[in-house]
Amino acid sequence: MERLPFIAGNWKMNKTVEEATGLVRELKTSLSGVKDVEVAVAPPFTALYSVSQELMGSSIRLAAQNVFYEEKGAFTGEISPLMLKAIGCQYVIIGHSERRQFFGETDETVNRKMKVALTHGLNPIFCIGETLKEREEGKTFSVIRRQIEGGLQGLGENEMKGVVIAYEPVWAIGTGKTATPEQAEEVHRFIRERLEKLYSPEIARGVRIQYGGSVTPENIRGLMGQEDIDGALVGGASLKAESFSRIVRFREM
Ligand code: 13P
Repeated sequence: MERLPFIAGNWKMNKTVEEATGLVRELKTSLSGVKDVEVAVAPPFTALYSVSQELMGSSIRLAAQNVFYEEKGAFTGEISPLMLKAIGCQYVIIGHSERRQFFGETDETVNRKMKVALTHGLNPIFCIGETLKEREEGKTFSVIRRQIEGGLQGLGENEMKGVVIAYEPVWAIGTGKTATPEQAEEVHRFIRERLEKLYSPEIARGVRIQYGGSVTPENIRGLMGQEDIDGALVGGASLKAESFSRIVRFREM
């Protein structure tokens, strides 16, 4: 099965509304004519609506960076899946390591968010990845396994068709230290094998697995050349139209 490459920009806590709409306008121009790659941007919540308006008629998809696991109510500061769906979000990043690290997210809360997102027709970009300490202690595969089993707990085959997985080794995020294509591929292959055990060969073949962590226009081609790497979740390099478009146009480089 051919998996459509998927490149998404996670803007994290960057860009005012004006900056965000400006960047999207530039992206619409610099990405025009791009085929056979799916592209998404994940602006901060305050800019989501303006960006969604700016993206009308464009093939660039809208993603949120987080979602809460309840639909509505007394949850000060949280954003519901219904609210995201209503403004045209198609994807939502769930379980990013920064949320696990700084905001106390666990495999269990991540799992609740996965379920509620899917119930409301949002496609999760489900993030997993080991820390440097875990890698050095030889725990990479056990951590990935725990995160997969915890995060996907209770999700059926049909739901898995709407899920994208992002492997983001924590030591490679914002550090300029990318995993080598071979290091990343080793974990991507492991993830696919787990999916085959938990679900089926069909699900394992169909689910897209992005790599994230210091992706640049210079290293994207090598990563995309690996059999089990189907795209990228890009942080820093997604904040400028020039670098993000070069990443999306990896085939032309
Ligand atoms: P950087 O590309 O800045 O390393 O960030 C990766 C990331 O965390 C994307 O979600």
